[in-house]
Amino acid sequence: MNDIIQKLNILKKEKKAVVLAHVYQRSEIHDIADFVGDSLELSRQAAQTKADVIVFCGVHFMAETAYILNPQKKVLIPDLEAGCPMADMITVEKLKEFKLKFKNPVVISYVNTYATVKAESDICCTSSNAVNVVKKVVESFGKNIDIIFTPDRNLGEYIQKISGIKMNIWNGFCPTHNNFILPEYVKTAKNKYPKAEVLAHPECRPEVLDLADYALSTGSMCKRIKESSSKEFIICTETGILYKLQKDNPGKKFYPATNLSICPNMKKITLAKVYDILANMKNIIFVQDNIRERAYIPISKMLKINA
Ligand code: 13P
Ligand code: SF4
Repeated sequence: MNDIIQKLNILKKEKKAVVLAHVYQRSEIHDIADFVGDSLELSRQAAQTKADVIVFCGVHFMAETAYILNPQKKVLIPDLEAGCPMADMITVEKLKEFKLKFKNPVVISYVNTYATVKAESDICCTSSNAVNVVKKVVESFGKNIDIIFTPDRNLGEYIQKISGIKMNIWNGFCPTHNNFILPEYVKTAKNKYPKAEVLAHPECRPEVLDLADYALSTGSMCKRIKESSSKEFIICTETGILYKLQKDNPGKKFYPATNLSICPNMKKITLAKVYDILANMKNIIFVQDNIRERAYIPISKMLKINA
């Protein structure tokens, strides 16, 4: 293990590469990454990096977003098969068909979508800035619009509840959050750890969010934990985040609502794959110019809106 880490560090310098990793990555990937964060923070890092090569340890749509922001750079993903089943639930054809049902459609796409869908959208959001993005849309376009929110129904419903703004929500979901983090697990954890603060990702089902003290993106969870006077936390999201939480907050205790909430795609990224693609400059992300130029617009609008 140490050998590969040493070799990777030399290679990173040689190639002027930066390694960006999502918080759901394996612990050994957290340890070699130059930056570990949530989707919004990673997009921001990708937009401002001075490196020539970005090794993106996350899923495909994230690496694609990094490329759209940096077409002059090489963006590599350690495993091309690391997709996102939620992003697969909306295609550009389905979105175009759905838009036809409305008089004044304005499309907000969660960043968990492919470039073709983003190219057909007015603005993107992540779970960090979603509520502010929806408010901004109403401010800019007025009330006489039909907001389409795609693809996550749980995040969409959560935004609608918090903002009071009516949206037409696509019926997509994240299997890791929706199918594996169940209310009964959260209730059991709350009974076992009654003093713990409960933090849930808005991709969880509404019944889970109702049991939580806060619904937060992964980045906002990290911030909340640092600020909170609580010493124990029940975490309702992908379990990869626990490694970072424990590392950053050694005096606090973390309990996953369930150990079943694992994203198999995030876990496809391994140290050996990171080394291999960088050594051989493999798995280079590319998006056709006409799609990239159109997808850049909603992504750059998203980056102007804070969490
Ligand atoms: P955030 O990193 O924005 O919290 O999103 C989590 C997620 O599921 C990414 O796929
Ligand atoms: Fe997609 Fe869910 Fe995995 Fe995030 S956790 S990448 S939304 S499947």
